[in-house]
Amino acid sequence: MCGIVGYTGLRQAGPVLLDGLRRLEYRGYDSAGIALVTDDGDLFVEKRAGKVANLEDALAGDPPSAGIGLGHTRWATHGRPSDLNAHPHSDCTGRITVVHNGIVENFRELRGELAAHGHSLKSETDTEVVAHLVEDAYKGDLADAVRAALRRLEGAYALVVMHRDEPERLVGARFNAPLIVGVGDGESFLASDAAAIVAYTKKVIFLADGDVADLLPGKVTITDRDGNAIQRVIDIIPWSAEAAEKGGYPHFMLKEIHEQPTALTSAMAGRVRGETICLEELDPIRERLADIDRVEMIACGTAYFASLVGSSLMQDWLGVSARSTVASEFRYSPPPIDARTLVVAVTQSGETADTIAAARLAGDRGALVVAVTNTVGSAITREAHASVFLQAGPEVAVAATKTFVAQVLTLVLLTAEVSRQLGRRTLEQEHELVKELRLLPAKAARAIELSSVAEEMATRYADAVGFMYIGRAFGYPAALEGALKIKEISYLHAEGYAAGELKHGPISLLDADVPLVAVATRSVVYEKLISNLMEGQARDARVIAVATEGDENIAKLATDVLWVPDTAEPLSPILAVIPLQLFAYHMAVARGRDVDQPRNLAKSVTVE
Ligand code: F6R
Repeated sequence: MCGIVGYTGLRQAGPVLLDGLRRLEYRGYDSAGIALVTDDGDLFVEKRAGKVANLEDALAGDPPSAGIGLGHTRWATHGRPSDLNAHPHSDCTGRITVVHNGIVENFRELRGELAAHGHSLKSETDTEVVAHLVEDAYKGDLADAVRAALRRLEGAYALVVMHRDEPERLVGARFNAPLIVGVGDGESFLASDAAAIVAYTKKVIFLADGDVADLLPGKVTITDRDGNAIQRVIDIIPWSAEAAEKGGYPHFMLKEIHEQPTALTSAMAGRVRGETICLEELDPIRERLADIDRVEMIACGTAYFASLVGSSLMQDWLGVSARSTVASEFRYSPPPIDARTLVVAVTQSGETADTIAAARLAGDRGALVVAVTNTVGSAITREAHASVFLQAGPEVAVAATKTFVAQVLTLVLLTAEVSRQLGRRTLEQEHELVKELRLLPAKAARAIELSSVAEEMATRYADAVGFMYIGRAFGYPAALEGALKIKEISYLHAEGYAAGELKHGPISLLDADVPLVAVATRSVVYEKLISNLMEGQARDARVIAVATEGDENIAKLATDVLWVPDTAEPLSPILAVIPLQLFAYHMAVARGRDVDQPRNLAKSVTVE
C-alpha cells in the first residue's frame, strides 16, 4: 500500500532514502517525503503530493548531509493526497517523526483524546496520532516510547519512528503490514520490501506481527511490544538490485512480460524432475493432504483469476468439490470448513489484507492452509501450514503479468502433485503433463514473438470506447485477466465474461465502437466459442481472436488474430494471456497512460 524506508549508518541518508523510495513507488504514489536528522542536529522534513519526482524537485538534488533518516511513499487512505497529509508526520515538539503504512482504526478516538490533552494535530491522517502518542510516552528512550504508543493502537501498521535527540536510532514496528530489517556492515535499514534496500544489503530479517525493531548502525535488537527480547533469523534475498530495474525496457511491465519464459522456468525449478512433479514444500503436510475432501481457493484480482484455473483443475483431477472465492467476500459467506478442507491462498505479494483475513478465518476453523505466493517471509506464509513460492523474481509494475503465469503454473504443479498423492491420476498422465511443461517456456517466448502485431493493432483500437472479453472453460480466466489489464492501464472499460453468458445480456453493448476479444484457442469448447465470436461479428463488433497457430478457420472470422502455440488445455491460459497483456500494454502506451503506475492503484493492498 505505502512504501517505507529507513536508514542509519555512515552513508549519506538522503540519497539512500530517495533511491529506496523510487524502488518502492509502485506501492503508492500519492505523495512522498523524507525526514533526516542532519549532521547539525536538526530535524529536516520535506514532503510533496504526487510522485517521488516532485519530492526530488523540491530537494533540488541536494538533501542536507545526514547519516540517519526515514522516507515514505503514500497510497492515501485517511486524508486526501496533499503536501500536508504526506508523511513523515511530527509531534508538537518537532523532534519526533513517523512514517506509517496501514490504518490506525481507533485514530478518531485517539485524536480527540490527544487534542483534549493540548496536542495540536495538523493533518487529516490517522498516522499523525502515532507521533503524538510517542511524544507523550517519551522519557528518554525511543524504543520504550514506541512500545507504549503501540499498545494504544488498533488496526494495522508498519511504522518507523525517529527522534532528533537520539540521532543514530530508528525504531520500527509491524502489525498486519510488511516491514523488514536490512542488516548491513556498520549500517541498518528498515523497508516495506527488499527492493528498497537490496542494492545495499541482501541480509534481511522479516519482522513478524507484534515485533519492534530497535536499530543502531550495524546493530539490531528485536522485542515484542512489552519489551521482551525476540530472536529472528537473517534471510538472504535471492535476487539482485538489477532484477528490480528496467534493464533497457521503457516500462517495467514490458520487461516483466518478456521475463515470462524465465519466470516459468524458475517456477518449475526443483519441482519438475525427470518425468515427475515434486513439491517438497508439501512434505510437512502430506498426512493431512491425504485426508482432504474439499478445496477452497481465496485470492484477489489477478491472483483470483489464476485461482480459477487452479480450482477447476483441482475439481477435475482430484474429484473433490473445489471452488475459488474472491477473498474480500469469503468471510461474509464462509463455506463449511473443517480439518479436511484444503484452503489455497493465492497472493503475489503475500500481504493482501483481504486474502490474509480469509486465510486466517479458514485456519481458525481448522482447515489445512497452503499459501501460493511470490514473497518469501510475507504475512501469508505465517497464516499457512505450507507455502509454495512462485520463484518469479520481483514484479515492480503495478499490473501483474509474470506472476499471473507463474501462479497458474504453480497451481497446476500443486494440483498434479496432490492428485498423484491421492491416487487420482496415473503416472502416465503425469509424464504427459511434464512433457508439455518442459516445452512451455519456449512456447511462451514464441507467444511473445507472435504478439509483435499487438503494437500496430493497438493504434487501430485506441479509439474504442470499451471492450468485451470472452472465454469458456480455461479460456475464461484468461479473458477476465485480459480485460483487467485493459481497465487497469488504459482506463477503458473492459468486461470479462463467460462466453456463454454473452447472449444473456452484455451482447447489447457490442457495436462498431466496442470490440469483442475472444479467447478461442484449441479446446473442447472451441466450436461453441466460435459461435459466440460470430454472434459478436453479426453485431458489427470488430473481433479480435486469440487463437492457436495453424487455425485457418479463425482468420476468416476475426478482424484480427493474436496467435499462440498449442499446448495442453490446463496450460492454455498461460499462453493465451501473453498477447492480451501485450495488447493492453500497447493500448495504454497509445493512449498516453502511465503504464507502470496507473492512477488510483497500488501494487500491494494491505487494507481491507
Ligand atoms: C492486477 C493486480 C491486482 C492483484 C491483487 C492481488 O494487475 O495486480 O489485481 O492481483 O491486488 O494482489 P496479490 O496477488 O498481491 O494478493
